[in-house]
Amino acid sequence: MKKKIGLLYGGKSAEHEVSLSTAKAVTQALNFEEYEVHPVFITMDGEWLIGPRLTAPVDTIDQLQFGSNKTPNNMINFIQAHNESPFDVIFPLLHGTNGEDGTVQGLLEVMNVPYVGNGVLASAAGMDKVIMKQLFEIAGLAQTPYIYFTRSEWESDQEGILAKCVELKAPLFVKPANLGSSVGISKAMTREELIAAIKVAFQYDRKIIVEQGVAGREVEMGVLGNDKPRTSVAGEIKPVTEFYDYDSKYKDGSTALIIPAELPDTVVSKMSEMAKSAFKILDCSGIVRADFFVTANEEVVINEVNTMPGFTPSSMYPLLWQHTGVSYPELIDQLIGLALERHAEKQKLQYNKD
Ligand SMILES: Nc1ncnc2c1ncn2[C@@H]1O[C@H](COP(=O)(O)OP(=O)(O)O)[C@@H](O)[C@H]1O
Ligand SMILES: [Mg+2]
Repeated sequence: MKKKIGLLYGGKSAEHEVSLSTAKAVTQALNFEEYEVHPVFITMDGEWLIGPRLTAPVDTIDQLQFGSNKTPNNMINFIQAHNESPFDVIFPLLHGTNGEDGTVQGLLEVMNVPYVGNGVLASAAGMDKVIMKQLFEIAGLAQTPYIYFTRSEWESDQEGILAKCVELKAPLFVKPANLGSSVGISKAMTREELIAAIKVAFQYDRKIIVEQGVAGREVEMGVLGNDKPRTSVAGEIKPVTEFYDYDSKYKDGSTALIIPAELPDTVVSKMSEMAKSAFKILDCSGIVRADFFVTANEEVVINEVNTMPGFTPSSMYPLLWQHTGVSYPELIDQLIGLALERHAEKQKLQYNKD
């Protein structure tokens, strides 16, 4: 019997396009002998459209964007479709808001359907840079000094907040707490730039974070597993632009990825330990990419974790595993296996007190 898999992609998010490319690549890597593949497309308007079953890999993202049928409540249609003929597993290929933040995971939990990747808590905690950093602190992970504040705090005490920012060493990085893909992030050297950067960040969130800049190389590591996660080789990013911004991530392809990163074993082991510890404190499952800075004197500082990292075959996470000996199709299989394992374990839990 083939496993019925639902690919969930698109989404009401800035990373909509990226998600479509990922979905295309996943159809090209899935074994159609083993899986019955059903596309579930979330439009930019947030409509959930269930497409006809795919019988072969798709060649273009157009094939994945079927027209809107404007049926009201089509998320309910998705739930009904599952009730009539259950999915064996859902593979959410969504990044950013409404996808990587625990909201979709919550729906899948309520439906009690196995799904790939992180659960509600890890997704939500990983999406909020402030919560994430507070957890890293509890885990004793080295990170750059930062402050955070809400819009209303900013409006009532700009001078007080700016005075605190000055205690951090420039350059400062100003970020909305809840977004990914470098959207709304700026680097500020002066007070004027800082104020401008804060205004930009507030366009995207009501809570923002200001960090002390770290002078260092950017190195990332993949984590794969549930209770006993493994880590991949390390990979370095060499952005050509000022920093790793949205365009260098997704548009110009100007960023060089060096895999494995040229680093002493001691640094790589330290990073592996920190990546696993971040995975554990956030209660992650399945997949995480942990991002670090490595300073000139080889100190390792954690920047963030991504609970749904870029997942096209040319993205860092799949490349890291490829260099560790896990091919893209194999990685997909393992992630599906981990999703089923976590779900099966959950079914054994007792929900009443006797
Ligand atoms: N504290 C920092 N010091 C130096 N560079 C930083 C710092 N924070 C962010 N950056 C740069 O900005 C990029 C995006 O920031 P990041 O926090 O990773 O946001 P996102 O969640 O959007 O990926 C990083 O990859 C790095 O190039
Ligand atoms: Mg990042």
